[in-house]
Amino acid sequence: MPSIGRSFFCLLTTSLLAGACLPGETQQTNATMGSPRSASAQHTFRLDAGNVTYAVGVTPSGSVQTVYWSARLAANDPIPAAEPIGRPFEIDDSPQEYAGWGGGLLAEPSLKITFPDGNPDLVLRFVSAAPEAHTLKIVLKDIQRNVFVTLHYDIDPETGILARWSNIENRTEVPLTVEQAESAEWNLPSATGYSLRFLSGRWGGEDQLQTRAITPGNTVLESRRGFTGHEFAPWFAVAQNDRVTEQNGEVWFGALAWGGSWRITIEQDVMQQVKIVGGYNPFDFSYKLNPAQALTTPKFYGGFASHGFGEMSRIESTFQLHRILPHAPAPRLRPVLYNSWEATGFNFDETTQEKLADKAASIGVERFVMDDGWFSTRAKDSSGLGDWYPNPQRFPQGLKPLIDHVHALGMDFGLWVEPEMVNEDSELYSKHPDWILNFPGRPRTKARSQFVLNLALPEVREYILQTLTKLLSENDIAFLKWDANRNFSEPGWPQKPADEQKQLWVAYVQGYYRVLHTLRERFPMLEIESCSGGGGRVDLGVMQYTDEVWPSDNTDPFDRLTIQDGFTYAYTPAVMMAWVTDSPNWYNGRQTSLSYRFLSAMQASLGIGANLKWTGEDFSTAKHLITEYKRIRKMVQQGALYRLVSPRDGSNISSTESVSEDGRSAVVFAFLHSQQMGYRFPTLHLQGLQPETVYNIRALSGNLSKDTPAQASGAFWMHQGIRLGLTGDFSAQAVLFTAEQHEGKQEQGRTESR
Ligand code: GLA
Repeated sequence: MPSIGRSFFCLLTTSLLAGACLPGETQQTNATMGSPRSASAQHTFRLDAGNVTYAVGVTPSGSVQTVYWSARLAANDPIPAAEPIGRPFEIDDSPQEYAGWGGGLLAEPSLKITFPDGNPDLVLRFVSAAPEAHTLKIVLKDIQRNVFVTLHYDIDPETGILARWSNIENRTEVPLTVEQAESAEWNLPSATGYSLRFLSGRWGGEDQLQTRAITPGNTVLESRRGFTGHEFAPWFAVAQNDRVTEQNGEVWFGALAWGGSWRITIEQDVMQQVKIVGGYNPFDFSYKLNPAQALTTPKFYGGFASHGFGEMSRIESTFQLHRILPHAPAPRLRPVLYNSWEATGFNFDETTQEKLADKAASIGVERFVMDDGWFSTRAKDSSGLGDWYPNPQRFPQGLKPLIDHVHALGMDFGLWVEPEMVNEDSELYSKHPDWILNFPGRPRTKARSQFVLNLALPEVREYILQTLTKLLSENDIAFLKWDANRNFSEPGWPQKPADEQKQLWVAYVQGYYRVLHTLRERFPMLEIESCSGGGGRVDLGVMQYTDEVWPSDNTDPFDRLTIQDGFTYAYTPAVMMAWVTDSPNWYNGRQTSLSYRFLSAMQASLGIGANLKWTGEDFSTAKHLITEYKRIRKMVQQGALYRLVSPRDGSNISSTESVSEDGRSAVVFAFLHSQQMGYRFPTLHLQGLQPETVYNIRALSGNLSKDTPAQASGAFWMHQGIRLGLTGDFSAQAVLFTAEQHEGKQEQGRTESR
């Protein structure tokens, strides 16, 4: 039986080395640190990278505070000192880096603990610091008890994005219960008038950008569902004021790398200090730490941009490409894929799939993905989940004949799986009804006729790894679409003692990451997509293990413009999948042309999800646009994105521009919802081009108007702009800009990039 890899307890070699464990792993500590020394002098520690300086100060009484987080300062600039606390009523209103709940704290704490004697008072003070060029560790300790917290800082030299996380150690003689454990607290410069951006949504309507003034009180973004969730993205951006635009103004932003229940609280306290605290969701949270055990929080990344939301997103994208994704700093380009879900639903067999594969290959698709319905008794959504072997009626010789067929057509093969779930009507559930989340004796709530397997149980992880290892060893499968179509209910872990059962909220996600990590170790060429009923599992935690994500089951190309716009505020287009599907769209019945559908999806990582019952002309259009997409995909997926015109708030038009890394080519996509009163489509002003370089232009679809010059300088395209002749309803156009003698070089196939 293959082992799962790491042991559950991760032994620390020194008291400060916590980074070796996954978030949430309980660590057995091997404490070597002495008792805290009282800090008699003021200390300041600073980290500089990208366009960012972050500085932490320590008061003589040991309060550790944020003293600077903004644009980069000169090396010898004076850093403000931390301020004494307790003015005037011994209430701690200082911008602490990590506040224990105790003493005179009224604001949102970072850590709340209850000791066995019922006493929750926790006042954390400075013990020691270990500054390096781009990292910093600060050790805090309670003023009396041997509760130690190590704050970790790791700033990315390229982007200035700072990773922060915490390690909470119990060095007392008794067990204690952690009731709230945040990853970090981000304090903004003292000011008023801040404006918050966040992403909210639901199934079929993910990633809607919201704007809210930050006023006294709290805004809470969270998931209580055990998964990242559709309702909010674990991401925030705070603009200096409500006049910040795509191109101008200061923005502080952050994202939590955690795919379980999470919470981000944006607070403006009574002294008008604005801070953002995020980490494990304290709702129903309880984590017992025995003596010598420690708990590590997820990473909370924070960044700063001086030039508006556009620069913010480009910094985030660079960071995710170079630091987060599998194969970073050079993640693979996404192949053009075909997915059979919208074409077939559950109704198919080997021949149906082969016919779709033939058609997909004829238009230039590179990866053929068979979605739900291929396994066990799965002919409807109420049976088969958990039994991961090919349906013997549909695939009498197993998957090999279909996979061989797909390979012979020059494509690689991918498969849909939903390994964390089980149907009641399955062999797995009849053998192991105790493997699901449940409270004994209570009803077990089904959603989409399925239950959630408890990935905190080693035997469940072992089962998933074994079955997937068998599937992937016996079949040449390049890609898994890993789905999870429901959230937790009755989150019970009855196999554990009562006072440890709520550790499920942490241990489940930890188990999920371990399975993904082990699978990737065993199959290094395997690529994985994160999907959860559409976009219910998109975050920087899962993006470390998955190559792409499915933003939404809503594939309507017009709705997608808004979903994609919101998505790119937080995440790189490199992972954002979009399919060209049929018209009328299954989700809302909207009718659009094939080229409109293509151009909407070509702003992302392109897939085809249509049933391919197309006319000859449709096939030629598809073939042409897929060929064009392969030429531009490197800049669309991994280049610099400029959101030229937002589709939000009922906008009648929208436009994006992607610029190649060397700035010598760009592609502009433009969309018109409905022309009114004969008004012309407005002029688009490009961004990010080299002003003096001459760019040739070429329409990828349709024709340019006669008065559009065939070539002009970057300065011309940015300042004079380009007028496109879009008319009518749901019309779209894409235009390629290439520096003279450059187009050939940009033609980046996927093979070339791998
Ligand atoms: C989820 C996914 C879809 C599809 C179905 C299959 O809803 O988001 O893309 O894979 O499951 O059951």
